[in-house]
Amino acid sequence: MNQDQLKALVGKAALDYVTEGSVVGVGTGSTVDCFIDALATLAKPIAGAVSSSERSSARLRALGIAVLDSNQLQSVPVYIDGADEIDHAGHMIKGGGAALTREKIVADIARRFICIADESKLVRTLGRFALPVEVIPMATAQVARAFAALGGKAVLREGMLSDNGCKILDVHGLTIADPAAMEREINQWPGVVTVGIFARNKASVCLLGTPAGVKTLTF
Ligand code: 5RP
Repeated sequence: MNQDQLKALVGKAALDYVTEGSVVGVGTGSTVDCFIDALATLAKPIAGAVSSSERSSARLRALGIAVLDSNQLQSVPVYIDGADEIDHAGHMIKGGGAALTREKIVADIARRFICIADESKLVRTLGRFALPVEVIPMATAQVARAFAALGGKAVLREGMLSDNGCKILDVHGLTIADPAAMEREINQWPGVVTVGIFARNKASVCLLGTPAGVKTLTF
């Protein structure tokens, strides 16, 4: 099975976590696209979705799934999203698709985070994937200097803005041994909107696509 087939496999498997009549939290990315496509085929009705990006909202609406305003919701049973890396404790790096801020907002109102990923995303220690950080435009150089002091090299994603009108830095060369501590630290820096470490909002379950089928990791 190739990577696309593994993504389709876990996208479909995530339907088991969707309960009838509920609002589903929906992430962003190519794996989530597979989940959205599967969601449109679901026999049991859902109340709608709360989405983490304009991209996912457009795909949901095109398939006839209502997109609700997160401000109208106190909580949702599940948030289903991919990851750029996930470790054996459910901590993740996210934001490869630049949707990290809205992803964290929706993950925060979800009772469970169901991560869907192909097996290449499972790592022992986070950090080989460059860490995405959403930053207020006037603070990019300042935040890049703060990463340099930690041994990281921050590279600006040229020519793009997030859905929130902010810049994305991709930080290379970090070894994230303590994801919760690093997330807390970077969150303090002026100008940082969101760091792509998901430790406080880590996965509850990971559905990992492998050639032998879906492996379920519970954290
Ligand atoms: C987007 C994300 C995605 O979940 C992450 O980049 C994984 O994407 P894909 O499923 O395309 O590999 O965090 O901001």
